[in-house]
Amino acid sequence: MAVNLLLGLQWGDEGKGKIVDVLTNDYEIIARFQGGPNAGHTLIFDGNKHVLHTIPSGIFHKNAINIVGNGVVIDPVIFKKELDNLAPYNLDLKKSLLISRKAHLILPTHRLLDAASETAKGKAKIGSTLKGIGPTYMDKTGRNGLRVGDLEMDNWQERYKTLTKKHLSMLDFHGVQLEYNLKELQEEFDQGIEKLKELTFIDSEEYLNNALQNGKSILAEGAQGSLLDIDFGTYPFVTSSNTTAAGACTGLGIAPNKIKDVFGIFKAYVTRVGSGPFPTELFDDNGARMAKIGHEFGATTGRPRRCGWLDIVVLKYAVQVNGVTQLMMMKGDVLSGFDTLKVCTSYKYQGKEITHFPFNIEPENVTPIYTEFKGWQADLTKMTSKEELPKALLEYIHFIEKEVNVPIKIVSVGPDRKQTILM
Ligand code: GDP
Ligand code: IMO
Ligand code: MG
Repeated sequence: MAVNLLLGLQWGDEGKGKIVDVLTNDYEIIARFQGGPNAGHTLIFDGNKHVLHTIPSGIFHKNAINIVGNGVVIDPVIFKKELDNLAPYNLDLKKSLLISRKAHLILPTHRLLDAASETAKGKAKIGSTLKGIGPTYMDKTGRNGLRVGDLEMDNWQERYKTLTKKHLSMLDFHGVQLEYNLKELQEEFDQGIEKLKELTFIDSEEYLNNALQNGKSILAEGAQGSLLDIDFGTYPFVTSSNTTAAGACTGLGIAPNKIKDVFGIFKAYVTRVGSGPFPTELFDDNGARMAKIGHEFGATTGRPRRCGWLDIVVLKYAVQVNGVTQLMMMKGDVLSGFDTLKVCTSYKYQGKEITHFPFNIEPENVTPIYTEFKGWQADLTKMTSKEELPKALLEYIHFIEKEVNVPIKIVSVGPDRKQTILM
């Protein structure tokens, strides 16, 4: 069997959690491959809402195995809270949630370093979720990090203390005053570690490749979005991992030739949370309307998300970098009621019209060029089949498919599992 991949094509929050939950019926294994608790994946079913940060979005399906891959960074404190939230569901997590020994651990001092770095940057801050993601991946590539498998070693305590001490001296370097109680942070961390140890640790690359050989079906779940990728995103306003398809190979130990379909998920408009350039951002009533109807507030930090028109230049770029084979369009329902809609099809870049995503998309370099569409008025949220969708929405969909040259296979018309239309 092969691995299919699901990842975001914009700046995150496209609706990955919802769709992974919907697709889990078709898979035996769901595996997260990068990111950490900076992610917030929302699932809504049976009238309940769940936000997952590190745990894969297949967790509510009793027969699925969920794997936290080696490319993920885990904060035991947040992880414990996620596990506690699952308690009412009586899931057999020892069996259904497996953790890679090679996944790196976020220490309390990684979070402090994140905060210090952002404070020191002032106006130039990334707008990080402050979950310690950047400092933890820095320690990974700097070859100083601590991994889940280290918890099984005799010298864990010693290594933890050494790294913490180093972090505390680095905090001084930033020269910013942070208020924290290290003892309390460490107690909380220790409790998280104890909880984590109740789960099953695995050599996940071995597990996944064996599963493949035995014909199991695997869905790899991405976090963040392609424009937040450390290499291909709007650097430096990005996260610290490869959010694109290649990240699934390094983050799970799966070879490129084992990947079959790549599901690219996007919102019918665009949102971004945190700092950084966003060519089609709206500062008018249209943007405010998207934010209000789409409830555009971060699932992890609660910050308001910036909103704007759909950007085909971004979409094409992400489709190319990821090798997307099927598209999924989310939140079409939020656009109901607009008289006209705009879609950006090219940029005016340094005086010329271009259709590729350039190195520098700061507002002084890039002006979006739009194509206008007639909007649709009908409420989509109760629709269940393609036949019911308004003509104007189908025209919007066909235009995107033609521009990007990939079919849209799922249209989502509301946050609930059931509000999902197969095309
Ligand atoms: P993720 O990080 O990609 O999993 O996405 P988030 O969960 O952070 O953000 C997506 C938000 O949109 C969540 O609040 C979802 O419940 C909601 N959502 C997902 N799909 C739809 C949809 O088709 N329509 C509407 N109105 N909301 C949706
Ligand atoms: P999901 O998986 C949206 C953004 C932050 C910030 C930048 C760097 O829910 O789509 P970091 O904490 O990684 O150092 O922050 O990336 N960011 C996200 N934005 N959705 C996410 O995840 C994000 N994870 C990080 O807002 O701009
Ligand atoms: Mg999210």
